[in-house]
Amino acid sequence: MRSASEILSIFNQALDNHPFDRQPQSLYEPVRYVLAMGGKRIRPVLLLMAYDLYHDDVETIMPAALGIETYHNYTLLHDDVMDRADMRRGRPTVHKVWNENAAILSGDAMLVLAYQFMCQVGERHLSPVLHLFTETALEIGEGQQYDLEFERRMDVSEDEYIEMIRLKTSVLLACALKLGAILADAPEVDANHLYRFGENLGLAFQLQDDLLDVYGDASTFGKNIGGDILEGKKTFMLINALRLASAEQREILAGWLARPLASAAQQGLKVDSRYCSAAEKIAAVTEIYDKIGVRQMTERRIADYFEAAFRSLDAVALPADSKQALHDFAAGLLKRER
Ligand code: IPE
Ligand code: IPE
Ligand code: MG
Ligand code: MG
Ligand code: MG
Repeated sequence: MRSASEILSIFNQALDNHPFDRQPQSLYEPVRYVLAMGGKRIRPVLLLMAYDLYHDDVETIMPAALGIETYHNYTLLHDDVMDRADMRRGRPTVHKVWNENAAILSGDAMLVLAYQFMCQVGERHLSPVLHLFTETALEIGEGQQYDLEFERRMDVSEDEYIEMIRLKTSVLLACALKLGAILADAPEVDANHLYRFGENLGLAFQLQDDLLDVYGDASTFGKNIGGDILEGKKTFMLINALRLASAEQREILAGWLARPLASAAQQGLKVDSRYCSAAEKIAAVTEIYDKIGVRQMTERRIADYFEAAFRSLDAVALPADSKQALHDFAAGLLKRER
């Protein structure tokens, strides 16, 4: 079995070889920009590593790996518009470099390109691959819709949050692994164990993302810190802070979340004492998180989902040493800072 870094370099080579050079230039330039910005390439690596558990010719299934990464990057273009996010992978987001129309339309093009890649899998696998990929893509949209709707609610439960992140994030990691298994003609029970491995890994992964959005280092994480707080995202941390806060703390926390952000001009004019700066809001909410201890609570939950993920990987009916590289790759994610 090949290591994750070997698989990653094979994938990056394939991506580099793909020109994305149709006309008009202006439609494909943002596509090339976002794909060249890097990213961890977790989904194609999972897909190829799952396949590599069974066969050593990963080169033959490269279109599926390119499809899943192109699809993922499409979701990011639209997600950054929805979340009003200005930075990704240490660079300005597509809607900042160009505009929202570019993020919408180049994003749409990437979704279609993803399907074009997926359609290149062998005839025998086409139907199950497209069925799983399409079901997954629908679920991601559903998760993203819940994510947006939860911004307006203060009573989101932990179960609702977990289901939302399962939909918006986990199912794509799970889909990647199961696609690799399907293309390898793995036994169906093992393909399903790999799916559950990805699902639990994905829950841990999104909890980490939420944690890093508050406690990460912007230059390493590549995204602006505090974005979730400013957008009123109902993260595991906020839900638990609201649940565990004293009545007084809850009022203070809700008060900060409700405060409108002052633009530079408004700050100068001091129009309303309710206005605050982004930095003030992030600092105040983070201070309450610190007091309540939600960081440690989130770290414990992340560890639980990693353990659940490893149990599913253990259940795959292959010798432990042949699963070691996949295990090591997932274990590496446990310590991620970006
Ligand atoms: C970002 O995904 C979106 C989430 C599901 C949190 P990644 O953290 O995998 O982003 P890149 O592709 O490595 O930049
Ligand atoms: C993103 O969740 C999930 C999808 C893109 C489908 P986030 O909104 O938390 O991802 P980041 O933090 O912007 O990467
Ligand atoms: Mg986002
Ligand atoms: Mg989002
Ligand atoms: Mg995030």
